[in-house]
Parts: sequence; structure tokens; C-alpha cells
Amino acid sequence: MNKVVIINGPNLNLLGTREPEIYGSETFDAILNELRNSFSAVEISYFQSNVEGELVTAIQEYSHTQQAIIVNLGAYSHYSIALLDALKATALPKVEVHLSNIYQREEFRAKSLTAQACIGVISGFGKHGYGMAIQYLKQLLVK
Ligand code: DQA
Repeated sequence: MNKVVIINGPNLNLLGTREPEIYGSETFDAILNELRNSFSAVEISYFQSNVEGELVTAIQEYSHTQQAIIVNLGAYSHYSIALLDALKATALPKVEVHLSNIYQREEFRAKSLTAQACIGVISGFGKHGYGMAIQYLKQLLVK
């Protein structure tokens, strides 16, 4: 079975109540349930932290047990060299997801540092971005 981990960064634990007009009104638990039901042939692990170092450690550790990584590193995406380096250090395929369209918002969000280490970025499709990332990784891993 394909093994994919979703790693979410700061404030994404608040999904459901955090600025629902931007991020939607579903909790990540609900989104994860939906993803697991839709992709029953993929083993989806999940990790969330508000702490940069914990996210670095998670990327390092999951890189030994998973086949692909989906990241939404929240605000850290825009400036964390430590997370960029952690992503670069693993050879696993990586896809970056943002719920909102980061190009449509404040200027400081329009640049993602961590995206440099990823195959591509899915931004602006809300929760569907995670499903799109899994769909892409699934066909990549099957080859
Ligand atoms: C986000 C966009 C970031 O700019 C923001 O800091 C987040 C969420 C998104 O999913 O749209 O925390 O990554």
C-alpha cells in the first residue's frame, strides 16, 4: 500500500474556526476522514505542529517510513530556511498545499520558500488541494 504523510504547520490545528471565510469551516479531522475514505488504497498519516523544530524533526523521521510527503507549513512556508532544508534533505516526492490562493492575498504570502523543495504547489482549492496532491502522488508511486 502507498504510504503518504500530510504534515501541517502552525495554526492549521484551528481549521474549522480559524478565519472560515478563507480556510473553510471543516476541521482537519473531518478533512482527513474524507481523504481516507476517498483513497482507501493509500495509507495516509498525519502530523501537525505549531513549532518549527518539531516540523523539521517530523520531516526527517517520516522520510524513513513514508513514500511521499504533502506539506502545508502555514506561515513557515514563506520564510523558514530550516524547513526548506529539511525538505531538501529527503529524496521523497513532496507536494506543497495551501488551502487559500496565496497569490491572491497579502504580498508576503505570495512567495513560498519551502515550495522550492517540492515538485509543485496546489494553492487556492481549499481542502480539495490535499486530495489533488494524493491523486498525483498515487500515480507517481505506482509507476
Ligand atoms: C496557508 C497560507 C499561509 O499564508 C498561512 O499562513 C496559513 C495557511 C494556507 O493553507 O492557505 O497558515 O498555508
